[in-house]
Amino acid sequence: MKRIEAGADEGLSRRTFLTVVAGAAAVAASGSARAAEALAAFALPALPYAPDALAPAISAQTVGFHYGKHHQGYVTALNKLVQGTALAGKPLEEVIRATAGQADQAAVFNNAAQIWNHTFYWRSLAPAGGGQPSGALLEAVKQAFGSYEACAAALSEAALKQFGSGWVWLVAEKGQVKVVKTPNAETPLTQAGVVPLLTIDVWEHAYYLDYQNRRADYVKAVLEQRVNWAFAAENFAQAGR
Ligand SMILES: [Fe+2]
Repeated sequence: MKRIEAGADEGLSRRTFLTVVAGAAAVAASGSARAAEALAAFALPALPYAPDALAPAISAQTVGFHYGKHHQGYVTALNKLVQGTALAGKPLEEVIRATAGQADQAAVFNNAAQIWNHTFYWRSLAPAGGGQPSGALLEAVKQAFGSYEACAAALSEAALKQFGSGWVWLVAEKGQVKVVKTPNAETPLTQAGVVPLLTIDVWEHAYYLDYQNRRADYVKAVLEQRVNWAFAAENFAQAGR
């Protein structure tokens, strides 16, 4: 997926982001399906910054649990779920699209989508984030919302209205930007023609250690101090017009 590759210089290449399938030559040499399964494992992508780099907006403790336990947990679970199946070794996005909307594959979809969503979330944040978008993205934001402030307000409102766990996204569709929210592990990645630009995780595990029930304060801190508009702009540029 090109919009992800665009940010590979931030320490999260497609190779590490999707899956690490090392040793293809060894597999070919062995001809062993079991060896292929053993080698084909989804990996937890590296954080693009130190765990304490988002503090105080998001503490090192929150990042530690969120990344080290939750994000890692989805990776571990998915590897167990796909082991020995036709999905083993497939690119993560292919697994997500192949299982979306299929009740009998819900566990695979949920874990795969949560890996992707979280990786996208970490990249949607930056230690020196906040501020406003610029250039073509700012123009698109103004066209859609009237102003950046109105866009930020729409993101905040969507975050608060998302009942229970989920995600808030800025996405592009046919050159237009808009705010959408998704419940649980759902992701705009599965919607044809919709390109995610940035996301905010509004699962309680994303903010409860720092903000308890005050989701609005968490979202405010993210928008004002940590949202990575440069990442969103890269994705917008790749989305086409
Ligand atoms: Fe999360």
